[in-house]
Amino acid sequence: MPDLRLSDAEAANVTAYLMTLKSDQKYPEQKTSPGERQKLAAQGKELIAKYGCFGCHNIKGFENAQKIGTELTEHGRKGVELLDFGDVQYFTEDPRHHQTYANWVWEKLHVPRVFAYERVETRMPQFDFTDEESLALLTFLKGQTGETPPPEYRTGMNEVQAAVYKGERLVFWNGCRNCHVVEKRGGKIRDQFNDENQSFAPPILTAEGWKVQPHWLFGFLKGPTPLRPWLTVRMPTFHFTDADATDIVHYFAAASNKSFPYLTAEAPQPEGERLRQTEALFKELQCVNCHVVGQLRPNQDPASAAPNFLLAKERLRPDWIPVWLKNPQALMDGTRMPSFWDFSDEAHPVSPSKLFDGDSKAQIEALRDYLMHLESPKSVPPPKTAATPRPPRRPAKSKRG
Ligand code: HEC
Ligand code: HEC
Ligand code: HEC
Repeated sequence: MPDLRLSDAEAANVTAYLMTLKSDQKYPEQKTSPGERQKLAAQGKELIAKYGCFGCHNIKGFENAQKIGTELTEHGRKGVELLDFGDVQYFTEDPRHHQTYANWVWEKLHVPRVFAYERVETRMPQFDFTDEESLALLTFLKGQTGETPPPEYRTGMNEVQAAVYKGERLVFWNGCRNCHVVEKRGGKIRDQFNDENQSFAPPILTAEGWKVQPHWLFGFLKGPTPLRPWLTVRMPTFHFTDADATDIVHYFAAASNKSFPYLTAEAPQPEGERLRQTEALFKELQCVNCHVVGQLRPNQDPASAAPNFLLAKERLRPDWIPVWLKNPQALMDGTRMPSFWDFSDEAHPVSPSKLFDGDSKAQIEALRDYLMHLESPKSVPPPKTAATPRPPRRPAKSKRG
């Protein structure tokens, strides 16, 4: 269960809501004598042994008990004559009803007790598998032959594939895809947000490894901080170990084919005339109508705000920013971030501004460089004759891993 960092008041509200979820079902009162209860408990213990509950649960007294299930390691090579069809007869000509390995397993998975008869008891639990799940299991079992294919037919796992594999498991086990679309899959929760308010859904994480710097991502996974002030749904704290957080960061980088773990987040610092034009463009396009620089402006509604630009140099990969600016909708379905440029004709893009001679690419690169060097407005400009020592300035080029 992830930690949603609920305040006491929020936890109390959730509790109050849960307490309203009651059913009127009455349970019969048990009137048994202590002697009868002892007898029932002994019978229960026998049932635990019979049904092998300890295969899944830790139960005191059954630490060393033998598993009750059939060995499945080489199940795929089991001949049909070894499968007990019991009283189940197949009368029709339909090949789906012939006595085959596949039909037996299929029935067994759907109706686990179907092959039981007087002398043979079956104890496999009913898992209510869907047809899709049964097919997956059947295919897996058929492959359990106890043989390993010769090396030339096996997929080697290089470092990147291993990272994707480990990360994919962590993403699965922690339910990231309930909230996020991760590498094109998941995002169940998005169904709750209709077309107009898709931007209130958790962000899409496809190509996240391209968007953000590994160093930032690691920190965010260890201790999530709000990026989008308009969201009410929350990124949980998973209390990842350093190793797991590293695996997830590596996973995202690998899935986007990006360097890991170090990168030089370099962008030339706009200077002189270029800086002047960039600042003019930044004003003209009114990016800060939505975007926060440091903190919300007085009276700015958090619901209409956009991420803090001061995070860009720590957080974003410089090569991602132009792709985002060219077509935000393509990366984040339903985002409120407007498309300022029209690149539908890549050779002749339409620009919203005459600055930089109306050159869309030059404008976008200038804004990227500007954001990658943006400083907190308060620290600029420091008075020349300051009596107090100046705070250390950031180096012009930020190199980090
Ligand atoms: C295939 C694995 C499996 C087997 C076999 C199994 N259980 Fe469970 N059981 C679970 C899982 C997983 C849960 C956790 C809740 C859930 O998913 O339903 C659970 C939950 C329970 C719970 C509720 C515990 C709680 O407080 O939430 C009880 C009681 C229980 N099992 C009893 C048994 C008994 C008795 C048997 C044997 C007759 C048994 N189980 C066999 C997997 C199994
Ligand atoms: C309960 C829903 C929920 C779950 C589960 C969840 N997240 Fe999030 N996550 C969010 C929300 C909401 C945000 C946006 C936070 C913000 O912008 O303020 C977010 C943001 C993120 C971001 C930053 C996205 C960006 O803009 O760069 C990353 C990375 C992330 N989540 C990864 C994960 C991973 C990995 C998991 C699983 C281990 C996970 N999340 C599970 C809700 C969730
Ligand atoms: C109408 C409001 C609005 C305007 C105007 C706007 N943006 Fe955005 N922008 C957003 C929103 C909303 C997001 C967050 C999308 C998401 O959920 O990831 C965003 C995201 C971004 C990001 C990614 C930030 C991050 O940390 O994830 C960059 C970079 C960005 N915008 C640049 C710009 C630039 C440059 C301009 C001006 C040319 C601009 N935006 C104008 C709404 C706006």
